[in-house]
Amino acid sequence: MCGIVGYIGYEQAAPFLIDGLEKLQYRGYDSAGVCTNDGEKLIVEKEQGKLEELQDMTDNGNNVKGTVGIGHTRWATHGRPSKENAHPHLSQSGKFAVVHNGIIENYMPLKQHLLENGMTFSSQTDTEVVVQLLEYYYDGSFIDTVIKVVSMLKGSYALGIMCMDDPDEIIAVRKGSPLIVGIGEKENYLASDVPAILDKTRNIYRLDNDEIAVIRRDGVSVIDRNKNNIEKSVEIIEWDIDAAQKGGYEHFMMKEIMEQPKAVRDTVFSRIKDDRVILDEIKLTPEQIRDFQKINIIACGSAYHVGVVAKYIFEKILRKPVEVDIASEFKYRDPIIDEKTLTIVISQSGETADTKEAMEEAQKLGSHAIAIVNVVGSTIASEADSVIYTLAGPEIAVATTKAYSAQLAVIYLMAVYFGDILGKINQEDYKYYISELKSLPEKIKSILETSESIKDIAQKYYECKDIFFIGRNIDYALSLEGSLKLKEISYIHSEAYAAGELKHGTISLIEDGTLVIALATYGRLYEKVISNIKEVQTRGASVLAIGCEDQTELNKITGNTIFIPKACDIMLPSLAVVPMQLLAYYVASFKGCDIDKPRNLAKSVTVE
Ligand code: F6R
Repeated sequence: MCGIVGYIGYEQAAPFLIDGLEKLQYRGYDSAGVCTNDGEKLIVEKEQGKLEELQDMTDNGNNVKGTVGIGHTRWATHGRPSKENAHPHLSQSGKFAVVHNGIIENYMPLKQHLLENGMTFSSQTDTEVVVQLLEYYYDGSFIDTVIKVVSMLKGSYALGIMCMDDPDEIIAVRKGSPLIVGIGEKENYLASDVPAILDKTRNIYRLDNDEIAVIRRDGVSVIDRNKNNIEKSVEIIEWDIDAAQKGGYEHFMMKEIMEQPKAVRDTVFSRIKDDRVILDEIKLTPEQIRDFQKINIIACGSAYHVGVVAKYIFEKILRKPVEVDIASEFKYRDPIIDEKTLTIVISQSGETADTKEAMEEAQKLGSHAIAIVNVVGSTIASEADSVIYTLAGPEIAVATTKAYSAQLAVIYLMAVYFGDILGKINQEDYKYYISELKSLPEKIKSILETSESIKDIAQKYYECKDIFFIGRNIDYALSLEGSLKLKEISYIHSEAYAAGELKHGTISLIEDGTLVIALATYGRLYEKVISNIKEVQTRGASVLAIGCEDQTELNKITGNTIFIPKACDIMLPSLAVVPMQLLAYYVASFKGCDIDKPRNLAKSVTVE
C-alpha cells in the first residue's frame, strides 16, 4: 500500500518524482523520499510525515540534482513510521538504492545471515535487507545481482532499484505487487499506479509477476529471470488525469459520492442488452451454474458489507445457501468448500492481500472464483477464474463510496442472471428487476440533490460521541456500511446492530440523547423496526430514521427522517447508502477531519 515512482531521462528527476508521489499519496502517507544519481553518488532525501515535509525540504525537488531517480511514499508495515524507515534505502556503501512495495516474508533469516557476515543495517524495515543483499552479492553485473537476490526473496514485492555503477539504468521487478513502466520520448518512467505518470505518458507496460524491466533513457527491455526477452504489448490509458483529480470538489470523497449515478449506470447498462442481463465475463456454462450447491463470498471492509447484502439477496432469489466471510478469517477457518461451491470475491483495488489469499485458498479447494473488481489488470483480477469489472473509474478517497455502489450493482446483475438460469425468476419479475436496475442511477441522483438537507442534519449531530446504526435484513447489512463510513472518516465511535439484537446487551449503552440511526427501508420488516425504534426511544435515544418516501408514519414517530425514493426491495441499499455517505462526509467536514486520508488508513491494503 505504498507508492513507487521512477524517472530516467534528460530532465531533472526529483521534481517529477515528487509530483508523481503526490498523485500516489492515497497508497500510503506516513513518510516519503526520493533518491537520485547526481553523477558522483546516490543521494537520498526523505522525511517522516506528509509529502509536504519532503516538498518543503527539497523545494519540490528543485534542489535535488540528477536526471535519474526513484521515489516512494510509505505506509508502515515493518518498522514504525520514521525517517530511517522511509524509502529509498541505501546499501551500506551507498552503491545501491531500493524502493519497495509489499512484504519480504523471509527478511529475518536473510538479515541474520548478512549481520553474521559483517553487514550493518540502519532501519527496522524488511526492505533494507534487499538493498544490503544487492551490495553483499554484487559481482559487477547489476542485472545478474538483481536476479540472484530476488530469487532469494519470499513474499510480495514491487522493487525499483538503482546502482551507482550503472547510472543509466533503473531496474524494476515485480512479484505480487503492481508495477508499471511508462514509455516516453527519450525518457521513461516507473510507477506502482497510473496517475503518477499520466501527465507524461499514456503508454505503459504492466509488469507481470517475476518480470524484470531494465529501464533506460532510450528504451525499456523486459526480461524473465533467465534473461530471455519478453514481448510486452503497450497498453494505452484511455482515462484522463482529470478523472483522477478532484473535479472542482473540495475532496475526492465528495466527487466520488457525486459520481455514483455514473458508476452505477456504466456498470449496469454495459451488461443489459435488449432488456436481458449479459454477463459473458462469467466463464461458466448454465449447467455448471445449476450444479453449484452453495455460494461463498469473501471480501474485506466495505466490500465485505456488499457481501452481506448479497447473502440476503442471493438466498432470497436463488434459494441457495450463501456464506459470507471476512477474508482474513476465511483463510484460517478450514473452510468446507469444493468444486460444488461458487466463490465470489469482492475488491475495489484488486490488490487486497487478505482477499487475494482467501481466493487462492478457495481455488485450491476446487472452487471457481468470480472476482468483482474495479482496478483493471490488478492481481485479484488476473488470478480469478472469472472477472466482472465494476466500472466506477479510479477511486482516490480512502473511504470507498462509488466502488461500493458499483459492487452492489454487480450483485443485482448476478442475482438476476443466476436467478434466470436457475429458473427462480419468472418473466414478469425479470422485467421488473431490469426496469428497477435501469432506474437506479436517476434515483441516486435525486438523493444527491438533497445533499444540503443532509448537511443540516450533520451540523446537528457532529459533536456526538457515540452513534448506533440499526436495521433488519438488508437494512442491517447496510447499517454495517453506514457505521464504518462514519467512524473511519469522522472518528466518532459507532456500532451497527441487527435491530432485534440490541436488546440482548447493547441497549444498556443507550442513554438520554444517544443518537440511533434506524434504517427502515425494507418493507417486510418495517413494523419490527418501528418496535425497535420505540425500544430505544423509551431509553432516551434520539432517532434519525432512513425510510422510503411512502413510509410517512416513520416521521410521526421520530420527527427526524431522511426519505429515499421507493425501489424494488433488494435494490434499496443502493439508495439508502447515499444519505449515510453524505452524513459521514459532512460530519467529518464539520469536525475538520482529513476526509480523503483518514488517520491510520490506506487505500489499498496489500499486506496480510
Ligand atoms: C472502507 C474501505 C475499506 C475497503 C477494504 C477492502 O471505506 O474502503 O474497508 O473496502 O479495505 O478493499 P478492497 O475493496 O480494495 O479489497
